[in-house]
Amino acid sequence: LIAHFQPKRLAGRHVLITAGPTFEAIDPVRGITNRSSGKMGFAIARAAREAGAQVTLVAGPVALPTPRGVQRVNVQSALDMQRAVQASADAADVFIAAAAVADWRPATEAGQKIKKDGSGAVPALAFVENPDILAGVAASARAQSGALYCVGFAAESHDLLAHAQAKRARKGVPLLVGNIGPDTFGLDHNALLLVDAQGARELPRADKLSLARALVAEIAQRLG
Ligand code: CTP
Ligand code: CA
Repeated sequence: LIAHFQPKRLAGRHVLITAGPTFEAIDPVRGITNRSSGKMGFAIARAAREAGAQVTLVAGPVALPTPRGVQRVNVQSALDMQRAVQASADAADVFIAAAAVADWRPATEAGQKIKKDGSGAVPALAFVENPDILAGVAASARAQSGALYCVGFAAESHDLLAHAQAKRARKGVPLLVGNIGPDTFGLDHNALLLVDAQGARELPRADKLSLARALVAEIAQRLG
């Protein structure tokens, strides 16, 4: 009902969002993941939909309901997520990378469950780096020309402003959003630091849906 009275700032736009963790398999029954709940990305998807956008939500493994009117694509690994993003990026006007993508995946995935051999020996896990999904999209011709507006997130444990500014430059995105910690994983509240070419401004502590609506309004304003 409240949504009904909100201005449709993103009508006619297609917003692509990643959310949640990724899961990197070790063998058919094990893997590594992280503590992302997906709540912020799902709240952004809901807020973008409320604002009138067509929304595609590429979601890692999370136990959250799909926001009404949002097209959801479920993925497991970072490579799966990258494929799903690439399949939708050409049609998108905005890409918001809210997922906590695993930085590394096991170099090999065992085809069968790894068994203890009885000797007490432990498996040696080797890792390889996952592709940077956001940096890849941000380097595309459409993003470089301004036709696709890219937004990154950063969760840092310290020196948020400096790290967020550095990350914005390194990823090549116009807007980088920092989670103002100390630790927001799974919680319903957060505060955000918006870093763009003009400088930094804070969206003060609120529930994640309110923050998502404020962030969507900020993005819509930047699209002009
Ligand atoms: N990201 C991504 N693909 C990756 C890693 C990160 O798309 N393989 C995106 C995240 O969704 C987020 C942004 O990049 O929007 C920053 O992620 P973050 O983990 O904070 O940065 P990293 O570049 O991975 O650096 P580090 O974890 O070492 O701080
Ligand atoms: Ca990372």
